[in-house]
Amino acid sequence: MKKILITGGAGFIGSHVVRLFVSKYADYQIVNLDALTYAGNLENLTDIADKPNYRFVKGDITDEAFINQLFENEQFDGVIHLAAESHVDRSITDPMAFIRTNVFGTVNLLNAAKNAWKAAYEGKRFYHISTDEVYGALDFDATLFTETTKYDPHSPYSASKASSDHFVRAYHDTYGLPIVLSNCSNNYGANHFPEKLIPLAINNIKNNRPIPIYGKGENIRDWLWVNDHARAIDVIFHNGKNGDTYNIGGINEWTNIDLIRKLCEIMDKKLGREAGNSAKLITFVTDRAGHDLRYAIDSSKLQRELGWKPSLQFEEGLEKTVDWYLDNQAWLDNVTSGAYQKYYEKQYNR
Ligand code: NAD
Ligand code: DAU
Repeated sequence: MKKILITGGAGFIGSHVVRLFVSKYADYQIVNLDALTYAGNLENLTDIADKPNYRFVKGDITDEAFINQLFENEQFDGVIHLAAESHVDRSITDPMAFIRTNVFGTVNLLNAAKNAWKAAYEGKRFYHISTDEVYGALDFDATLFTETTKYDPHSPYSASKASSDHFVRAYHDTYGLPIVLSNCSNNYGANHFPEKLIPLAINNIKNNRPIPIYGKGENIRDWLWVNDHARAIDVIFHNGKNGDTYNIGGINEWTNIDLIRKLCEIMDKKLGREAGNSAKLITFVTDRAGHDLRYAIDSSKLQRELGWKPSLQFEEGLEKTVDWYLDNQAWLDNVTSGAYQKYYEKQYNR
């Protein structure tokens, strides 16, 4: 029997990780700790909310007394840490929130794990989920990010994630804390909060609103289906080498403008619109400050050592994603109206 703490499990990627672990490991107890910020949505998890091996705890990873008490009471065997402020644009307007959660919150969890596990680290694991953005930006012709690429973050978001990565390694090197880390490229799929490019564009196309493209749309991202990220997290949590880092990526680079044109094509078909109609909504707007040109991940270490690879071609994944948003209008309505934030009070009688 294992008891695993998953932080940020009500968010986009976290909810897919929670679902995978709850469904796949009936003999594990999964505790989902989430502060339910604007990005946390328990409606992502209604299908598994009543499973006997799942429990939700509302709480903030920056609250020292609360986190120490939680670790003392629960005696976790492992931590999969996803809770974070995750949106680059928000980090430009409010960097302090990113430092609080991503840096201080991570160190708070590391301390609690170190104290709770100090008698014996055997069988314990602290898994920190990070991003390819810590490596900075690539030129069009540069080689991919590998696990040894020097850190060079540019946004307050990526600087906060880079800082948290350094702390995780420092706790391993200084205190021997058993850790593992992964750095993943851009995810897409169901339950993605519609402030990020793909769900924002789907929502805007559906409602005939402009699709804002920063700058000239030439920036490149390497897109991975969120379920494939969750599968990689499962493999790394169970089989990754202590103290090691694994890059996770889709081997799937797209300029933003090509991606949005492809999405418009799919949406025209799904919505029964004349070909080319949705693309008329594309609107070039002021560029993001410090906008990284290109991210692209070399995930060969993970493929070679742990046998993971992406399961889905991008165009198939994009179609599945569009279908999910069209089939789950209530989810989108509740997110855009703010009604999702009432779910916790209703469900847990608080
Ligand atoms: P998200 O914004 O959708 O979800 C973050 C979750 O963390 C939310 O449920 C939120 O309520 C919770 N949270 C925020 N602050 C908290 C706090 N102080 N205490 C407790 N919970 C808190 O994020 P996401 O896109 O699912 O990303 C999850 C993780 O994966 C992050 O660490 C992010 O850096 C990393 N990551 C994301 C991507 C991506 O493409 N989205 C790619 C690589 C890595
Ligand atoms: O690379 C991994 C990262 O991917 C994660 O660590 C972050 O948490 C996640 O948010 C994501 O960051 P990006 O900044 O790449 O994602 P976003 O969806 O915000 O933007 C994708 C690209 O699209 C980026 O080049 C900026 C551009 N963009 C974004 C928005 C929201 C637009 O052109 N218009 C938009 O309205």
